[in-house]
Amino acid sequence: MKNVFELKHPLIEHKLAILRDKRTGTKEFRELISEIGMFLCYEAMKDVKLEKVTISTPIEKLETAVLNEDNYAFVPILRAGTGMLDGVINVVPNAKIGHIGMYRDEKTFKPVNYFFKVPKGIEKKEVFILDPMLATGGSANDAIELLKSKGVKKIKFLCIIAAPEGLKAVTKANPDVEIYCAHIDNHLNENAYICPGLGDAGDRIFGTK
Ligand code: PRP
Ligand code: URA
Repeated sequence: MKNVFELKHPLIEHKLAILRDKRTGTKEFRELISEIGMFLCYEAMKDVKLEKVTISTPIEKLETAVLNEDNYAFVPILRAGTGMLDGVINVVPNAKIGHIGMYRDEKTFKPVNYFFKVPKGIEKKEVFILDPMLATGGSANDAIELLKSKGVKKIKFLCIIAAPEGLKAVTKANPDVEIYCAHIDNHLNENAYICPGLGDAGDRIFGTK
């Protein structure tokens, strides 16, 4: 699928195996979500433009390049997306942060938006949406539309596990958005949960069930 990038690396497969295991407790689950989020960010930023600078090492002058972190924003979808935030701000600590509050209605599986707060000047930034699970794609598409309605032009979506159904829905509605995921799973079940998946990401991050 065009614009869909899956991390293919033995370390990621190893970490995903622990993450998915139902015996993995809250602490380790949270650490892994954050860590895989960091690897996703690393991959999704592989084409960012750097700005030329001249610095002096202890030995000599060097013409090199740096990132203007202010040009980037991370926007986690509440609740589960916040689990990835630590990992991404570890690598880009001065990026701005917004929040989109959304939950999936348990009967219709449609997203319900309850919060939206993004940094000033968001329309000039490249935005990375964070959410560990891309299931039907409803939440991703609504979050993308909300950001586009505020004038955001460059959006990437970072998720840990994606279902083929959700990838199809997002790439169809938003072909300009690149999706980075750690793994593409098999399918959705009758409750729109990803199979084999990892269960309910929000509940496992926050220990709510
Ligand atoms: C989960 C997940 C996504 C959404 C994915 O959130 O974190 O936001 O479902 O499903 P979709 O692709 O079918 O829209 P959930 O509704 O469980 O809320 P939570 O993060 O507060 O637990
Ligand atoms: N949300 C989750 O947390 N898990 C799924 O499998 C689907 C949606």
